[in-house]
Amino acid sequence: MESKEISATYEAALARSKKIESDIQLHPERYRVLTGDRPTGRLHIGHYFGSLQNRVRLANLGVPTCILIADYQVLTDHEAFSEISQNTKQLVIDYLAAGIKPSDKVIIYPHSYIPEANQLMLPFLTLVSSSELERNPTVKEEISKSELSTVNAGMLTYPIHQACDILYCKGTVVPVGKDQLPHIELTQKIARRFNKKFCKPDSPIFPEPCALLSKTPSILGLDGSQKMSKSRGNAIMLCATEDETANLIKKAKTDSDRHITYDPVNRPEVANLLMLISLCTDEEPTAIAERIGDGGGGLLKKTLTEALNEKLRPLRAERIKLESSPDYIRSVLLDGVERARAMAIETLNEVRRAMNMEI
Ligand code: TRP
Repeated sequence: MESKEISATYEAALARSKKIESDIQLHPERYRVLTGDRPTGRLHIGHYFGSLQNRVRLANLGVPTCILIADYQVLTDHEAFSEISQNTKQLVIDYLAAGIKPSDKVIIYPHSYIPEANQLMLPFLTLVSSSELERNPTVKEEISKSELSTVNAGMLTYPIHQACDILYCKGTVVPVGKDQLPHIELTQKIARRFNKKFCKPDSPIFPEPCALLSKTPSILGLDGSQKMSKSRGNAIMLCATEDETANLIKKAKTDSDRHITYDPVNRPEVANLLMLISLCTDEEPTAIAERIGDGGGGLLKKTLTEALNEKLRPLRAERIKLESSPDYIRSVLLDGVERARAMAIETLNEVRRAMNMEI
C-alpha cells in the first residue's frame, strides 16, 4: 500500500471514529465493543493510558463489551508457547485491576475456547484472496520482525481469524491503534462479501465494524526513541513496585538542556515524561513544564515518579489481591467463555442457514 493511501484511510477512519465517539455516549446499547490482546506478557503503562482506560470508560458507559485474549495468535509469530496460560491469567488480573467489571454485558475469554467462532474461519477463508493477505502492511512488518525462519500460513491468515473474533458476536466498535486498521478493513470486507454472497439484500448477517482510534498520543518508552514495549526493555509494567518504578524513571533518557520545556518535536524524551505526568494528573504538559522549569531533569523525574506511583497505587493494591484469587480469575474466564459461546452458536447457526448447509 502506498503511504498516501494509508494516510487517506487513516483520515477516513479518524473521521468515522469521532462520529461514533459522540453517538456512543448517547446510545451505548446500540453498540458492541470488541477488543483483544495477545497473551505475550503483562501489561505496561503504555497499554494502560493507551487502551485500558478507554475500555473501562466504554464499559462503564454501558456499552456491551467483549474482551478477547488472542491466544491462538501467539502461535503465529512466537516459537514459545509455555507461558500462554499464565499470561492469559495475568492479562485478566491487569484488566480487572484497571477497573473492568465482568458482568452479563462485559466478558473476558480466550478465543481458543470458542469453537463456533473459530469455525467461521473456513467460509471466511474463501472470501479473501491470497494477494490481499500478502499485501497487509501490518502483517508484512510483523513478518520482518518475527523470530520465525519461515512464514507460516497462520501468520498470513490471522487477520481473517481476527475477523472471526469480531464478527462472531457482531462487534461494531473495535478500539485499536493505527497498526490494526488494515485488519479492521479486512473484517469490513469479509462482512460485506459474506452478506452479498450469502444473504438476501434486506437481511444481512454481519454488521461492518468500525475502528475507534485512541485519543492518547503514542507513548514512548523510557529511552524516548521508540514505542513503549516490554521486549525493548523500556517499559514500566503495571505490576512493578513503587521502588522499581522509581529506579526505572531515574534511568530514563532526558537531554542536556537543564531548563524543562514541553517541545515534543525537538525534545521528545522530556516531552514524553511530561505527557506521562499529564496523563496521571490531568494538568496540561506545558503547565507542568513551567512549574518544573529550572528544577531540571531531576525534578521532572521525581514529579513523574510520585504522580505515577500515586495514580497506580489503587490498581497495584487490587492486583496483589487478585493474584491470590486464582479461582476467581478462572471463574471470570469460564463465565466469559460460556456467554461468548452462546453468541457464537447463534451466529454459526445463522451462517449455516445462509450457506445452505443445514441438515
Ligand atoms: N491482533 C491484535 C494484536 O496484535 C490482537 C487481536 C486479536 C484483536 N483479535 C482481535 C484486536 C480482535 C482487536 C479485535 O494486538
